[in-house]
Amino acid sequence: MKTQKQNKWITVAYLAVIFVVSFFMTVLAVACIAKDFTVFSNYKVYIPLSIMVFCILSTLYFYIDKLDDDTLECISTLKKCLICYSTIFISVLVSCILYSYFTPGAIVTSSVTMMVTVLINRKLGIFSTFVSIGVMLAIVMTSTYVLDIENYNIDMIGGLLISLIMCLFMTFLVGKEYSRLRLTWGTILIALATTPLAGLYSILGHGISFETIGNAILDRLIGSMLAVAIFIVFLPLYENIFAVWTNFKLAEVCSPSQPLLKELKEKAPGTYNHCVNVANLVESCAIAIDLNPYMARACAYFHDVGKINHPEYFTENQKDGHNPHDDLIPEVSVNMITGHVKDGVEILKKHHMPETVIRAAYEHHGDATVSYFYIKAQSITEEQLSNYTYRYNANKPSTKYSALVMICDMCEAIVRAKPPADEDGLKAIVDNVINSKMKEGQFDECMLTVKDFAIIKETICEVAMATMHKRIDYDKAKERR
Ligand SMILES: [Fe+2]
Ligand SMILES: [Fe+2]
Repeated sequence: MKTQKQNKWITVAYLAVIFVVSFFMTVLAVACIAKDFTVFSNYKVYIPLSIMVFCILSTLYFYIDKLDDDTLECISTLKKCLICYSTIFISVLVSCILYSYFTPGAIVTSSVTMMVTVLINRKLGIFSTFVSIGVMLAIVMTSTYVLDIENYNIDMIGGLLISLIMCLFMTFLVGKEYSRLRLTWGTILIALATTPLAGLYSILGHGISFETIGNAILDRLIGSMLAVAIFIVFLPLYENIFAVWTNFKLAEVCSPSQPLLKELKEKAPGTYNHCVNVANLVESCAIAIDLNPYMARACAYFHDVGKINHPEYFTENQKDGHNPHDDLIPEVSVNMITGHVKDGVEILKKHHMPETVIRAAYEHHGDATVSYFYIKAQSITEEQLSNYTYRYNANKPSTKYSALVMICDMCEAIVRAKPPADEDGLKAIVDNVINSKMKEGQFDECMLTVKDFAIIKETICEVAMATMHKRIDYDKAKERR
């Protein structure tokens, strides 16, 4: 735990770095606008403007430090600051270069919105957008006024305001599900939708002229296309440098060509099959209760990856009816079974998997007792055994994802071992799984609500019923003919 005094010094250090960033951003931006790269020649602008930019940028630090609720992936304040400030820096400089050398109304702040929303979260994406537009306004208005540069402020201000509207709409594009294609097309469509506004603003500033209206519309499109280009080029770099798990990266991890999944498929085909089935259930439940389906799928795919070490000790991988547990005492069998949780964590850490996926692997059995071997052990002794040695030595689910994997894992195993005759039978299985785990207290720390449980039950039944549908017996159909 950091003391209050340490926290103060950390804040001072952050603010000092932000001031340096503000100064350099201001110097470079003003130099671009004035087309004068003789540093310090415009000192009368740099100092007050740097302070103004610093004030705007420091609000972002205080928001990140005090108000931004942490995402599940626990992105540190330092990482959040680096992502936000570097994207703002890039977008402000590119916009200033466009302002001076190409077209004054082309603003690329939507790259900040996309990057921060995709890499961190939507609220911070919106806040960063306001900050970047505030910085742009301060730099362009002050520098053009003080240095008396022939300017196109009216176009720039219009571009910024319309860009702000566009960016706010764009945050809705980045929901729980998004793809590069959806973001690219979404941005272009939103830019097209804002072009009438750009045309109207141009009429207000310059009067009705086809040339100025056309230019304003072109500005919007150029700005949006460049913002998309910046996003596409920089996102993979940011994903790797800051080790942030976006949906794009999670989709890659869940691809059948992913080395660890391939290894699971080769060494433990039964477990792989089970994980794929569990993933279908978990993903549908995640969508139903508004969780990230990509993260949910990744958690389910890798929850039993620890079974790779001893696949033959798990029923789904046993062939020819040989069960190695027949030759072992229950205490040893339990160690072999429960060991897959610890082994899974080690393997996932070695492969640098997301924290949420590692937690799901560690917590998907909670601290439950392996009843089968406890009962077996009890049946061969007369003394009363404690169930402590027959439990999973792990934590109860601490996230909604871990809890979903726990529920769907058990439901899938039971349904596969003994398929129910009808929908009522299936509902009884799901009810029983959730109620028994609830009684054990396994869901005490995962924050699932009563409403969530009701939705989960309904979703599992729907998805499982769809996969259990009766197939047409073609041979009988032929006989009837
Ligand atoms: Fe397991
Ligand atoms: Fe499992």
